[in-house]
This record gives sequence, C-alpha cells and structure tokens, in this order.
Amino acid sequence: MGGEAAESVRTIDKYSILLPTYNERENLPIIIWLIVRFMDKSGFPYEIIVIDDGSPDGTLDVAKKLQEIYGSEKVVLRPREKKLGLGTAYIHGIKHATGNFIVIMDADLSHHPKFIPQFIEKQKLGNYDLVSGTRYAGSGGVYGWDFKRKLVSRTANFLTQLLLRPGASDLTGSFRLYKKNVLEKLVESCVSKGYVFQMEMIIRARQLGYSIGEVPISFVDRVYGESKLGGSEIFQFAKSLLYLFATT
Ligand code: GDD
Ligand code: MN
Repeated sequence: MGGEAAESVRTIDKYSILLPTYNERENLPIIIWLIVRFMDKSGFPYEIIVIDDGSPDGTLDVAKKLQEIYGSEKVVLRPREKKLGLGTAYIHGIKHATGNFIVIMDADLSHHPKFIPQFIEKQKLGNYDLVSGTRYAGSGGVYGWDFKRKLVSRTANFLTQLLLRPGASDLTGSFRLYKKNVLEKLVESCVSKGYVFQMEMIIRARQLGYSIGEVPISFVDRVYGESKLGGSEIFQFAKSLLYLFATT
C-alpha cells in the first residue's frame, strides 16, 4: 500500500538526551535508570549523552560503570577536562548527538524522566520546533526550594516577561525538547554561555519564529550534592537580560 511505503521511508525519530554533570556521583545511576525505564516504555530509539566536566567526586567513573551495564549505544560518554560551564556543555553534547531530536535536562533528579514521553507526545501533536517544560503554568510547580531561591527564579522570569515578552511561561527552566536542527540554529544565534543560556534560547526561538509547545512539570530540588548557581550567575543573568533587552 502507498501509505505504508511512504511510512517506511520516513526516518524514525531518535532522541538524544543530554546530561551535563558536575559532581553528580550519587544522582547519575538513578537518573539513568529512570531514563532507560521511561524511554524503553515509550518505544522510541534514544541515547543518553553524559557530559562530565572533570568532576572531582568521580562522576565519570560511575558513568563508565553505567555504560558497562546499559551498553555504549545507550550511554555515550563525552567528558571534558575541566568545568567549562553549562552552556558550552550542551554545545559539546549536541556535536556528538546522533538523534534528530535533543532533550536537555539536569542530572540531579530535579527533572523527572517520566516527563520525556509527554514532551515527545506534545511535540508530535503540533509538530513544535521545541517543547519547554514549565513550572509556571498548569499543574507545574517547584518543590523544596527555599524562599530566596524561589524569589530569584520568580524575579528572573518576571523581569524577562516584562522586558522581552517572549510568549513562554518558564524562561529559565532547562528541561526541554528540541528539533536538532532548530537547536543548532539557536545555539549559533546565542551569545551567552552560562545559566542564562536557557533564557536566551527561548527568546531567540521566539525571535526566529519557531513554535513552542509547553508541558507542565514539577521541579524537585536535589537531594544529593549542591546547586552550582551562585551570586555570579545571578549577576550574569541580569547583565544578559539587559543586553537582550537592548538588542532584540
Ligand atoms: N558539564 C557540566 N559543566 N555540568 C554542569 C556544570 C558545568 O560547568 N554546572 C552545572 N552542571 C550540571 C549539574 O551537574 C546538573 O546536572 C545541571 O547541570 C544543573 O546544575 P545545578 O547546579 O543542579 O543547577 P540548579 O539546580 O541550580 O539550576 C537549575 O534550575 C535553573 C532554573 O531554575 C538548572 O536547571 C538551571 O539550568 C536552571 O536555569
Ligand atoms: Mn539542580
């Protein structure tokens, strides 16, 4: 049948899941186990790319063990020598990705892999260029953050909404699904490299006319290890926000 023939020529979607890690020894086995569980259930081909930045806690050794367990097709290791920042870790990961879709998420269990199949479903519904997990719409939320951290996140989102009107409800979140070619174009057009990268990506997406789907997610604060977000990142964020405001 014609329809079936056309179907079989179509390339099968593959998902490359990027996991940047810095001192995530305790979290990595659990997050990978969960990803495998939910992705196997979804039935889509996938790979998990671990980008470790020379973590002193031995995260890379743990990753090697996990690669032995799950196989080098599923767990791909693309480490770097030293801590070079989250933004460039993604860029590094994209270069090695073999999927036509890319999922970006944190490795510290703040982002639950159960949402990935929901992102995929949403993407297919509207053929979206990117799907963004949102803590600030529908059933989304944040759990376990102290007042200061909530205030920082809310303020960052509020100011960005106010100044740039990006048409997405969670700008600083980093649990997202992208078409690979879209992500590559976005990365090319982004100037920031630190935490603020997430915010700039969604602003540029809107600017370049890409379609954005949203899926409510619950963000749960990490149990093991600590956040790498500090005062200097907050300062960087403010600086970049003003830069984007002035230039877009
Ligand atoms: N390779 C690499 N290099 N990984 C890094 C680096 C780095 O320099 N810095 C952080 N990571 C990894 C962490 O190991 C973790 O998997 C993920 O990036 C997020 O880092 P966290 O330190 O846990 O970030 P957070 O919880 O403070 O911030 C989260 O929420 C913010 C907004 O609410 C992240 O999702 C941010 O991207 C997000 O903007
Ligand atoms: Mn975290």
